[in-house]
Amino acid sequence: MNNSLYEKDKCTNSDHVATPRWVLENIYSLIKVESFDNIWLPFNNYDSEFKLKASELDLRYKATHIFDDLGSDFFTTEPPCKCDLMISNPPFSKQNEIIERSFYLIEQKSIKSFALLLPLSTLETEKRATMFQEYNDKLSILIFKKRIKFLGHATSFNRGCCWICYNIPALQEKRIQWV
Ligand SMILES: C[S@@+](CC[C@H](N)C(=O)[O-])C[C@H]1O[C@@H](n2cnc3c(N)ncnc32)[C@H](O)[C@@H]1O
Repeated sequence: MNNSLYEKDKCTNSDHVATPRWVLENIYSLIKVESFDNIWLPFNNYDSEFKLKASELDLRYKATHIFDDLGSDFFTTEPPCKCDLMISNPPFSKQNEIIERSFYLIEQKSIKSFALLLPLSTLETEKRATMFQEYNDKLSILIFKKRIKFLGHATSFNRGCCWICYNIPALQEKRIQWV
């Protein structure tokens, strides 16, 4: 574990904010997380609630992070074999590239479905709107009624957010929901 780099990143990188536990408990329940067999948590290191909760539920998952032992960069790391769900809280500043790669991984059949926690403003911009529209067949959007208070090292910030989900069976009946 590249612990010292990770600890430094936590203090200096404005993209590094921790998602509170209630957000995890809520989404894991809504998507029926226990129904997935091989889950990938691509931006989550040892102290992430995504990972801690997955362990508690005894899920079969792999958590990776740019500062783990292998330097697992999302843009070059292959998902675990037979990955049927990718779920995470990506760095918001790289959201365009991350959304693009997520749909690429779907196209490649490297992942079957995904759920990404993003700011509400992800629904803005023609570029992102066009990507979402192209995959509208199995897209679901969960909109938070209240802002999420993310926890940083020295500070915290509140942000209106949504989950952008693709091909999650439990969400196909109601593809827009407020949570
Ligand atoms: C929103 S934070 C998530 C923090 C924490 N894992 C949590 O559970 O809340 C996004 C994390 O992704 C990491 N990151 C940034 N670029 C990355 C990349 N290309 N591949 C993997 N991780 C990356 C950042 O260092 C940051 O820690």
